[in-house]
Amino acid sequence: MVAGSVSSKTLVIIPTYDERENLPKIVGRLLTALPATHVLVADDDSPDGTGQVADELAANDPEGRIHVMHRTEKNGLGAAYIAGFRWGLERDYRVLVEMDADGSHSPEQLHRLLHQIDAGADLVIGSRYVPGGSVVNWPKRREVLSRGGNIYSRLALGVKIKDITGGYRAYRREALEALDLDSIESHGYCFQVDIGWRMIQNGAVAVEVPITFTEREIGYSKMSGSIVREALLKVTVWGMKNRYEKLKNLVSRKKSAAE
Ligand code: GDD
Ligand code: MN
Repeated sequence: MVAGSVSSKTLVIIPTYDERENLPKIVGRLLTALPATHVLVADDDSPDGTGQVADELAANDPEGRIHVMHRTEKNGLGAAYIAGFRWGLERDYRVLVEMDADGSHSPEQLHRLLHQIDAGADLVIGSRYVPGGSVVNWPKRREVLSRGGNIYSRLALGVKIKDITGGYRAYRREALEALDLDSIESHGYCFQVDIGWRMIQNGAVAVEVPITFTEREIGYSKMSGSIVREALLKVTVWGMKNRYEKLKNLVSRKKSAAE
């Protein structure tokens, strides 16, 4: 990260739910790889005490780079990120990053994402499915679900992004400011598709850079059947609404041309 560049004011938001063993590792790796970044841990009152671990990390960083948001209930990854974005936008961060706590998103690759922001992108997605991207140690069923989810989203919404469900991202602050964050009601992982698609519809410049996604070694995934159902249902509704709007516009254009 170059001093004076946009990315020299980066906030990495890490949502946590039961990540007490993972959190110190990921924060340590991040601040070693990119010492000038700040971190916001958005913890949903994890039963395993991740919130206290986060407070200790913050208290032990003399440079004050680590911040903690204590939320009162488990409300999904999407809601935690929205709260984190608001926190960051109230301050003078110029880039906001999404990163999982479990080591799946390598902090050592964050510079790739930030480089694209500095080059002018509004949204950068760390992508498993562009040349050079990969997934390590995922069970077959997770890969099938993820690839299927991406193909379905591409077809339903007509977006060209290969990894629209991916959760390793960097946003230019202005791209988030242009969205009505209140209107994003996706709680689970379809939040990623929701926010990405909205930005692209808003005309944001979206870029994918290859990453290596490595499945967690410690703890458990919070992905569930209800999260998958929420995603499937919402993507289908958004896609149908989008087609309906396009059709309506076409009909009204034809009508006014005929008049
Ligand atoms: N605060 C909070 N609240 N954090 C949460 C919640 C929640 O309800 N649910 C999950 N998290 C946190 C986890 O603690 C972790 O740091 C991060 O969000 C990702 O959760 P995982 O449970 O590890 O997700 P995953 O590995 O199954 O899914 C990843 O890949 C998906 C695409 O395949 C994530 O990156 C998703 O965002 C992504 O869509
Ligand atoms: Mn994970």
